[in-house]
Amino acid sequence: MENRTGRNDLFALLNTYCDQHSTPPSDILYQLERETYLKTLAPQMMSGPLQGQFLRFLSLWMQPKRILEVGTFTGYASLCLADGLPDNGELHTIEANVELEYLIRKYFNQSPKKDQLHLHIGNAITIIPSIPGMFDLIFLDAGKLDYANYFDLVIDRINPGGCLLADNVLWSGKVVKNASDNDTESMRAFNRKISEDPRVEQVILPIRDGLLMARKI
Ligand SMILES: C[S@@+](CC[C@H](N)C(=O)[O-])C[C@H]1O[C@@H](n2cnc3c(N)ncnc32)[C@H](O)[C@@H]1O
Repeated sequence: MENRTGRNDLFALLNTYCDQHSTPPSDILYQLERETYLKTLAPQMMSGPLQGQFLRFLSLWMQPKRILEVGTFTGYASLCLADGLPDNGELHTIEANVELEYLIRKYFNQSPKKDQLHLHIGNAITIIPSIPGMFDLIFLDAGKLDYANYFDLVIDRINPGGCLLADNVLWSGKVVKNASDNDTESMRAFNRKISEDPRVEQVILPIRDGLLMARKI
């Protein structure tokens, strides 16, 4: 049976179970999650504890020197990804909504990696080309209609063996339902585009709203 968010009850229960049996978030992440729920209109956009822990583990294993996140929101995923940065590493994250800057900076300033975190406020489409250099780990999580454009902007800037992640690729399950709204069509087109691109191999994980992981060949 589906609940009002379009989610299967069993899926929701399993997510809660996974949350309860995963290492809990740090104090900073816990406070950031609380403040995101108190002060923003769409807190469900935040990666949250389960996906955040997954991003953190991936980054800790990869030890990426350069990370790019497209769509910061309040910085939850940025802080998770930053945990794997080596001392000479850096994370760039891009957010279009200037209203979120104070909250992002408040929590970035509490991170032990604060000097390695670079926040860019503005439209990712114009900001991505202005950040020079190659990346080892990229997380796409901004406007869904632009996913294919973000991909085209970053794919040749990922080092071989590097990883591209894209969030929300199952779009509340609508990708396999009879939905034909722009966001759903765009997500289907994005998933098809990646699966046909010989520069990457990929796997879609049914974590949260669907997380695509692509490895640059
Ligand atoms: C799903 S939220 C990001 C969540 C965050 N990555 C996390 O995991 O906690 C998407 C964010 O992308 C931002 N955004 C949307 N379009 C954008 C664009 N063209 N450039 C930069 N940011 C954009 C939105 O303002 C929103 O804060």
